[in-house]
Amino acid sequence: MDYYRELFDLIEKQHKWRGSCINLIASENVTSPAVREAIVSDFGHRYAEGLLGGRSNGLQLFDRFYQGTRYFDRVEAIAMKLAEDLFGAEHANVVPVSGAIANLTVYNALTHYGDKISGLRVEAGGHISHTHVSCAGVIGLKDVPYAFDEREMNIDVDRSREILLKEKPRIMMLGASVFLFPHPIRELKEVADEINARIVYDGAHVLGLIAGGRFQDPFREGADVFTTSTHKTFPGPQGGMILCKNELASKIDNSAFPGLTSNHHLHHVAGLAVALVEMQKFGREYADQIIRNSKALAEAMYELGFSVLCEHKGFTESHQVLVDVSSIGGGDRVANDCEKANIILNKNLLPWDSLRDTGNPSGIRIGVPEVTHIGMKESEMKEIAEFLKRVAIE
Ligand SMILES: Cc1ncc(COP(=O)(O)O)c(C=O)c1O
Repeated sequence: MDYYRELFDLIEKQHKWRGSCINLIASENVTSPAVREAIVSDFGHRYAEGLLGGRSNGLQLFDRFYQGTRYFDRVEAIAMKLAEDLFGAEHANVVPVSGAIANLTVYNALTHYGDKISGLRVEAGGHISHTHVSCAGVIGLKDVPYAFDEREMNIDVDRSREILLKEKPRIMMLGASVFLFPHPIRELKEVADEINARIVYDGAHVLGLIAGGRFQDPFREGADVFTTSTHKTFPGPQGGMILCKNELASKIDNSAFPGLTSNHHLHHVAGLAVALVEMQKFGREYADQIIRNSKALAEAMYELGFSVLCEHKGFTESHQVLVDVSSIGGGDRVANDCEKANIILNKNLLPWDSLRDTGNPSGIRIGVPEVTHIGMKESEMKEIAEFLKRVAIE
């Protein structure tokens, strides 16, 4: 078989198919033509291993171990400066090649084998990289799950405070993969200080909303470190990033390189820099529209008979809508039928599910970053809700 021809055929099919789908995966987005130009640039052929030197006019200087980096040095310095300015961070590191690796890099910098890490259970929306089955476990950390308030779909601060005082984790992870409402950073800061823990805010899902000033402001609220992916609500290339206070910068930089990453995918750093400029200019408008769209979609689905979570709180303050579909066939059936109708979304565990339900959980998670990025507004959300009703209910 001619795999070469087949591969290009598959690429063409993918473009045609996903280009004609309604893409509602909460963790995905599409990049602008400008970001795509950066991603296919010559930087994708190159290496730039090296250490951070001083700064000149606020821009990072580098001591590289490779030749040929004169233009890339400026690109990386600009990416760092843009990220620091946009998120009010003292220091940015753009080396991690994904959000999970950004988390691993921080764990490696700030903990020792056998330390504890607090986070949300996966069933309650926590990301696997915060737990023993993934990055936290790889580095020998022990999970301390927060108490979760299923009605409020948020961390139960009072009950979690008791757990934290008893267990004394070294790192307190905040942020999640199912993330409808801002997390209580301010409320948990005091206990973090009391037990000498660092608050690490994983903003992978909500980075674009934070860039637009529409979710929460992790550093102003008390986070020490802010880890993230760069491709969910933030419409950058797939990658990772760490923002932190200056006092933690050298430990985190060393953990990133030479610690855990050698080649930091230079084309993605260039794409990230372009996306940061776009979000500096249009982020507020984009984030506003994302939230208007997710609320409009939630409301329309609720009116059409879907069991949308958190009606009493206005359904959502983020890009996500969560729906309990257990009474209409379950998450697996609904997500599969939607795919047959070219509507792409996730089945998802709800907090009262068990990990054994992963194959057919009670919920679906819907996200609007991509449909918003291609220009859809509230009226299209009503149409999408109608389509979903036809597929999932009728
Ligand atoms: C909260 C959270 N953190 C980290 C990650 C991992 O990011 P990546 O897929 O870029 O490794 C995800 C992925 O969905 C996530 O939801």
